[in-house]
Amino acid sequence: MNVQIEKLNQKYKDATAEELLEGFLGQFKGTIALSSSLSIEDQALTHIVCSIDKTTKIFTLDTGRLFPETYDLIHRTNHKFGIKMNVYFPDAAQVEEMVNTKGINLFFESIENRKFCCNLRKIKPLKRAFQGLEVWICGLRREQSITRQDMQRIEWDEANGMIKLNPLIDWTEEQVKDFIKINGIPYNPLQDKGFPSIGCQPCTRAIFPGEDIRAGRWWWESPDTKECGLHKR
Ligand code: ADX
Ligand code: SF4
Repeated sequence: MNVQIEKLNQKYKDATAEELLEGFLGQFKGTIALSSSLSIEDQALTHIVCSIDKTTKIFTLDTGRLFPETYDLIHRTNHKFGIKMNVYFPDAAQVEEMVNTKGINLFFESIENRKFCCNLRKIKPLKRAFQGLEVWICGLRREQSITRQDMQRIEWDEANGMIKLNPLIDWTEEQVKDFIKINGIPYNPLQDKGFPSIGCQPCTRAIFPGEDIRAGRWWWESPDTKECGLHKR
C-alpha cells in the first residue's frame, strides 16, 4: 500500500488543492467522501468538491453536543450548494447508558471519560460513515497543532484501512480565510468571536489573543493529548 501512496504523492506533487481533488474525485468516484466538521477548512473543501462533483458524499458527525451555530451552518451549507450533507448520529442507547452512569458532562472528570465520550459520539459513527469507502478527505492543516506537523497530503490511514487525503495540509489560516471570503462561502459566526477551531460546545472555548489556534479545544488538557481519536496515527 505504501507503494501506491508514494506513487500518488509523486503524481500530485505540484498539484493545487483543486487539481488534487479533481483527480481523486474522478479516480475514486463513489468510494470517496469528505468528512466535514463545518470548519472554515471543511467549508473551503465543500466548495471545491461541489464545484467538481456535487454527488460526492459529504458527511458530518453530529455528536449531539454541537453549537447551535454549527447546526445552523449545516442548513446554510446545504442551501448554498444545493446538497444534503449526510448526518451521522451516535447510538442512542449507548449515549443514554453513558450519561446515566458517568454523568452528562463526564468529559471534565478525566481524560479517560473524555476519550470514552469522543469514541462513542464520534469514532463509532465515523466507522459507520466509512462503510464502502476507499478515501476520506479531511481539512487538516500542519499549522493547527504539534500533533499534526508531520502529516502528509496523501497518507495511508492504518487505523481505518483507507487513503486519507489532506488537500489543505500546507495552507495557512490566512489562505483559508481569504479563500472563504473571495468565494462567498458560508462559515460559522463563532469564527469571528475568538473560535478558530470549533468542536463540541462544552469542550470548546474562545481563545485569548496570542494563544494557539487549538488552545480552546479540550482546554483543560495538555496539548499532546488533544486529539479525539479521529486522526490517530
Ligand atoms: S478534531 O479531531 O480536533 O475534532 P478538527 O476539528 O481539527 O478535528 O477537524 C479536523 C478534520 O477532522 C476536519 O477537517 C474533518 O475532516 C474531520 N472532522 C472533525 N470533526 C468532525 C465532525 N464532527 N464530522 C465530520 N468530520 C469531522
Ligand atoms: Fe464528548 Fe467533548 Fe468529545 Fe464532543 S468533544 S464527543 S462532548 S468529549
